[in-house]
Amino acid sequence: MRKLLAAVAAAAVLLAPAIAQAQSPIVIKFSHVVANDTPKGKGALKFKELAERYTDGKVKVEVYPNSTLYKDKEEIEALQLGSVQMLAPSTAKFAPLGVKEFEALDLPWLFKDEATYASAMKGTVGKWLFQKLEAKGITGLAYWDNGFHMLSANRPLLKPTDFQGLKFRISGSKVADQYLRIMGSIPQIMAFSEVYQALQTGVVDGCENTASNYLTQKFYEVQKDITVSYHAHLQYAVIVNSKFWSGLPPDIRTRLDKAMAEATDYTNSIARQENEEALAEIKKIGKTNLHYLTDADRKGWQEAMQPTYKWAKGRVGQEVLDLVAKELDVKMN
Ligand code: LMR
Repeated sequence: MRKLLAAVAAAAVLLAPAIAQAQSPIVIKFSHVVANDTPKGKGALKFKELAERYTDGKVKVEVYPNSTLYKDKEEIEALQLGSVQMLAPSTAKFAPLGVKEFEALDLPWLFKDEATYASAMKGTVGKWLFQKLEAKGITGLAYWDNGFHMLSANRPLLKPTDFQGLKFRISGSKVADQYLRIMGSIPQIMAFSEVYQALQTGVVDGCENTASNYLTQKFYEVQKDITVSYHAHLQYAVIVNSKFWSGLPPDIRTRLDKAMAEATDYTNSIARQENEEALAEIKKIGKTNLHYLTDADRKGWQEAMQPTYKWAKGRVGQEVLDLVAKELDVKMN
């Protein structure tokens, strides 16, 4: 009897790590740079809720918002190194990886509306772009929406000449650099977490972003004038470390795919309203002047920015422009 007990005790000691391992959840660290109370922030929390539910707690998703873990460029490096498993950067941030084709999505007045964006990215062009990331050890899972950019400064921006000499913070896209440069301004890439201070101290004069980001980062406190221009679109690619993702047990991955598909539909369905509510809130706070383009103003911007399309050929290549044109049924001259 004593021998039997000793054998059981020994087996328990031997098995303990395996049992603990079998019970300890797979952790997905999901890092991003915006506030929880934004389309992306809410999408990340929705994915967490669904992923944990669908895997019966076998997966734990830790969401780190507001650049608490990493800033823009660092987070992509961290993903490649496996220090985080999931991100949702704006597609403007892939150029440092040597993947420039995503910048086609930043062309001014490309997407008609949010629904056009969301459905287009489910098609050929979305998949084609994701393939570009595979060689970098990154797998693309979904595209999330954050609506359309506004532009701001400490003066009203209504005519192309209003841009002259202003320094604008941009998030990374050379296409955005180009359409602002054509307007006579000086664009500058800067991490999202540094924008408020840069605006406050005058390191830059202005920036572009969506209403939900203006509200949650309080950019309206340090910008006298915001033009609700909706001149370009802000989109995210939800990405994972390829090695981590392909190493997951297949049944777990299937459940996570389901969670991601639902979180994507959810995020893309709230983006427009979230931004409308954020804009209404900015208006209510009343610390900044909101300006709207007349049809003639918009035409002025569109004509001034139009050469960006031709310029983009040399930057992103004809192939992706053709794919986007086909998907959206538009001309890219
Ligand atoms: C930015 O840097 O302006 C955006 O990419 C922030 C974001 O992720 O919405």
